[in-house]
Amino acid sequence: MQKLKIGVLASGSGSNLQAIIDEARAGTLPAEVVLVISDKPDAYALTRAEEAGIITAVVEPKDFATREEYDAKIVKLLQLSGADTVALAGYLRIVTPTLLDAFPGRVLNIHPALLPAFPGLHAQRQAWEHGVKVSGCTVHFVDAGLDSGPIILQAPVPVLEDDEADTLAARILEQEHIIYPLALRLLAEGKLTVKGRRVLISD
Ligand code: GAR
Repeated sequence: MQKLKIGVLASGSGSNLQAIIDEARAGTLPAEVVLVISDKPDAYALTRAEEAGIITAVVEPKDFATREEYDAKIVKLLQLSGADTVALAGYLRIVTPTLLDAFPGRVLNIHPALLPAFPGLHAQRQAWEHGVKVSGCTVHFVDAGLDSGPIILQAPVPVLEDDEADTLAARILEQEHIIYPLALRLLAEGKLTVKGRRVLISD
């Protein structure tokens, strides 16, 4: 089994990044985070990366004319870092084929809902407002659509009577921290096969 070299793209607090770093350090995830890139200079994910001794970069959309030019810069940095896998972790931008073509079948995302329900932003609030009784989270391969790629793992989270959107989001986040490193481990172990929309997991 080959250790993954993961480049993480993050826009926010970076708790999923932290879960990946922690499991990689603990040896339960055969991986090393080689670079963390953010589109937001004040993202706490950058602080977490620095504290873990991981190289960071900020690439701000305002410095690029198009999404493709932006992603070309991201690809360059990822390639320089030696990354072979890209993990989107609370990364609030849609990636273009420029990035996907550079890392075919190696770009993953975590989404805080049971896809295909509630894609896009504020998925936990969307689910809560809709009144579903069960929501959860999804790790999927990224394609050019919005949260639409083949699903690797999902974890259900019941919606409680006294939940607000934020209490639901907090319980979903706990599950994200479990299934994201697990999906990456399955990838590292070569256990994932994509057949059309289905991702088959060998034991
Ligand atoms: C997570 O809940 C993640 O699933 C979500 O942003 C949060 C980031 O938290 N991502 C999306 O909504 C992407 N559509 P984190 O920065 O603490 O990992």
